[in-house]
Amino acid sequence: MGKILHPRDWGLQVSSNGELKIGDFSAVALAHSYGTPLHVVNESRLEETANNFRESVESSYPGKTSVHFAYKCNSVPAITQMIRAAGLKAEVMSEFELDLAFYLGHDKKEIIVNGPCKTDSFLRKCLKKQVRLIIVDSLDELRALDQISLQENKKADILLRINPDYTPRGVNKGAATGSRKGCAFGFDLKGGEVAVGLRLLKEMRKINFFGFHFHIGTGLRDPKDYSKSLRCLDQLLAFTRSAGLPIKILDVGGGFASMTSRELTSRELLVYQGLERFPSGLRKDRTAEFKDFAREISNSITGYFPKNELPELLYEPGRCIISPNQFLLLTVHRVKDRPGLRKWLITDGGLGTVTMPTYYEYHEVFLCNDVTRPRTEKVTIIGPVCFASDIVYRNKLMPQVYPGEVLAVMDSGAYFTAMESSFGFARPAIASVNQKTHRLIRRAETFEDMVCRDHIGDLIKIKEEIK
Ligand SMILES: Cc1ncc(COP(=O)(O)O)c(C=O)c1O
Repeated sequence: MGKILHPRDWGLQVSSNGELKIGDFSAVALAHSYGTPLHVVNESRLEETANNFRESVESSYPGKTSVHFAYKCNSVPAITQMIRAAGLKAEVMSEFELDLAFYLGHDKKEIIVNGPCKTDSFLRKCLKKQVRLIIVDSLDELRALDQISLQENKKADILLRINPDYTPRGVNKGAATGSRKGCAFGFDLKGGEVAVGLRLLKEMRKINFFGFHFHIGTGLRDPKDYSKSLRCLDQLLAFTRSAGLPIKILDVGGGFASMTSRELTSRELLVYQGLERFPSGLRKDRTAEFKDFAREISNSITGYFPKNELPELLYEPGRCIISPNQFLLLTVHRVKDRPGLRKWLITDGGLGTVTMPTYYEYHEVFLCNDVTRPRTEKVTIIGPVCFASDIVYRNKLMPQVYPGEVLAVMDSGAYFTAMESSFGFARPAIASVNQKTHRLIRRAETFEDMVCRDHIGDLIKIKEEIK
């Protein structure tokens, strides 16, 4: 069993009477003033994390660098805006994210576009908008882009996404995005698609090849995974040299772990979801800092290029920037105790609505009004949906918790809000705390929000009947 971390590992405090605090505010008071479920963002720490990442990258590499926040990870406008203020650019995968990046004021040269299913109309939009780079995922997409760029008479600057067939140790299969068998992403290097792609590129009049893109997984804790996956640069350089297409940009993607939560391994996932055995926690000795990743990546790239031909190095972090700087408050409304069988804590947020990542990730949880209350019993924590899998935790060691008490699910910044749903319940609000002030950055969904896309005849009359 890994050691349970202390709230200070997230930059939070515990007051002398055991209350969880963020800046000047108690988590319970925030829960009461905004209502739960409620995400809380640690604004000053988020800014610090984003700056720290960018500075680590800049100071570790002798060439040009550029850091693009992966919008898919958390596309709440106020949050992406805070990240932008720290000098991070945008990596987007959909029309919504592209529109959002422009809406937030990014210049077209700050936006790069990824994704396995860029439709023709999306590609057309990217060309019209002249985004900095389109990262091409397949031969099919390359051919489509060629046609569209000729029709539109617009040039496209591109990278080819590489599938290096590298699976980081311990990463569950679903997160191994650089595995040849397990994932459809990218050009299959071993299968010869890269060589074919480069040959085609030589004939494409409007497509400018700039280099390669990698994204080998998520929740990665070992910097060596990056250098190992980059060993295929040998082969890539041989291809590009013989094609006469120099590498001017290398994009190493995202995947850097938050050190205060973690992905479960394939085995842990089976044992947890199948046999309900809760995985071990987090270990402080299994952490790495941003500069460890940046140095390792830099060293593995500089070795391949002469000093005056170093490619620009791009990063696309998501999780490591925002995950540890947001947490989710849930109120325990009911407790159901069946001695000898099971005890359930019934909360206002579960897997079906707000905690999807707790299915396959380890996230710590604290009792907000009494963080130090001893953990004495294993409980199952569930959500409000009439759906058997609406489970936040199975068999989690917890203190005695009573109705009305508030829990903080830690590290809710990455892929929680992005994957939440309105399955029977309104989606939650998000508050942001900056030491001495707090503010609402997203209000909770209302009934009107939830029906505003629907055409149901005389809506006004129906609304009156509800009143
Ligand atoms: C292409 C690409 N880049 C970056 C990211 C961000 O990954 P992470 O949040 O693990 O840093 C993702 C996540 O899926 C991705 O698919």
